[in-house]
Amino acid sequence: MPEMRTQVGIVGAGPAGLMLSHLLHLRGIESVVLESRSRDHVEHRLRAGVLEQGSVDLLCRSGVGERLRREGLRHEGIELRFAGESHRVPMADLTGRAITVYGQQEVVKDLIAARLAAGGSILFEADVVRLDGLDSDSPVVHFRRDGRDEELRCDFVAGCDGFHGVSRGAVPEGVLTTYERAYPFAWLGVLAAAPPAVDELIYANHERGFALYSMRSPEISRLYLQVAPDEDIAAWPDERIWAELRTRLETVPGWSLNEGPILEKSITPMRSFVVEPMRWERLFLAGDAVHIVPPTGAKGMNLALADVALLGDAFAAWYDEGRTDLLDGYSATALRRVWRAQHFSWWMTSMLHRLERDDPYESKLQIATLRYVTTSEAYARSLSENYVGLPEV
Ligand code: FAD
Ligand code: DHB
Repeated sequence: MPEMRTQVGIVGAGPAGLMLSHLLHLRGIESVVLESRSRDHVEHRLRAGVLEQGSVDLLCRSGVGERLRREGLRHEGIELRFAGESHRVPMADLTGRAITVYGQQEVVKDLIAARLAAGGSILFEADVVRLDGLDSDSPVVHFRRDGRDEELRCDFVAGCDGFHGVSRGAVPEGVLTTYERAYPFAWLGVLAAAPPAVDELIYANHERGFALYSMRSPEISRLYLQVAPDEDIAAWPDERIWAELRTRLETVPGWSLNEGPILEKSITPMRSFVVEPMRWERLFLAGDAVHIVPPTGAKGMNLALADVALLGDAFAAWYDEGRTDLLDGYSATALRRVWRAQHFSWWMTSMLHRLERDDPYESKLQIATLRYVTTSEAYARSLSENYVGLPEV
């Protein structure tokens, strides 16, 4: 059976796995990334779009921010729409920081290009099936490629394989504690060839459910609708989507959205999920493999990048100086940011979605919260500093 060897074996070529591989390379540490899907698939998988200031800084500082600087859309505020009113939250004025709209698949493309240009090793269509020897100093990643079984031997394994990956399941039973919450709704997301009618994102609370107006470029809009968790996408022809978006977003006199051909649509279930600790022996878990947030706070990809920034430093301290303190502290340090984002995402989700069919009390509380957040500078600053990302948590 073919066997390879590297220092850090990385499972998954999403933002977490690719960024970790890139950061390790900058510190002179070797890695191999194993990805079950094709390069074309991961480069075109439509997902998140909002980068916190800290994520932008990390990408730029590490030398992969050239296209992001050119094509990313810097946003200094967001709009909250409810009860027939629209209010801007001036995030940059309140925090001194901003967000950048840049698609996750663009981040993935930039990272893949940088790794390959530097001679890095990313094996696509390599499906990891099992991790062994995680409690030894020479763990083995077993994977299948071209119908053959292969092995990657390494010093450490980074499990960056998302919620449905295999890494988390390699930890013996009884070690991990799971904290989770399911929500009784999902998001229907569409990408449309329509110039966005706004410069900033709109988060709308409507009696028929939440809607979000976002974008990818001056020509492409990205929009989301709250739908039932078991919603059938076939029940949503384009005209129904536009009609529902108009109802939920065109609530301010004289304002209308721009329509155009829908290029893609999909439904994403919503959950909050954390597993602790984020490490077992020589396995380090990062990103969606250990925590999921509902997308309302736009935190998923940012958390994945923040995890691997810590891991990059921790592996460097080990390889350069034989230090174990950062590896030992990884889980506790990362979990502080994870839980801040868990709370923020849950809070934004609860404030903006229709939670139960007939709960007028809940709706009144939501409007009271939205009024407070759009009139109190203190509350608006609290929302803003979480949204643009807290440097320290
Ligand atoms: P991922 O991006 O999931 O990467 C994991 C990688 O591991 C994948 O490429 C996968 O193919 C690979 N993999 C899995 N199993 C194996 C295996 N056995 N062997 C080898 N490779 C494997 N966040 C937002 O903020 N806003 C959004 O609008 C939003 N929309 C989303 C829509 C969907 C459908 C999903 C699933 C997530 C969405 N998110 C969103 C969350 C955000 O995209 C994630 O938080 C982010 O992708 C996390 O990055 P990651 O690298 O940890 O995981
Ligand atoms: C986008 C996604 C989010 O989850 C969010 O809160 C804001 C924007 C987006 O895909 O553009």
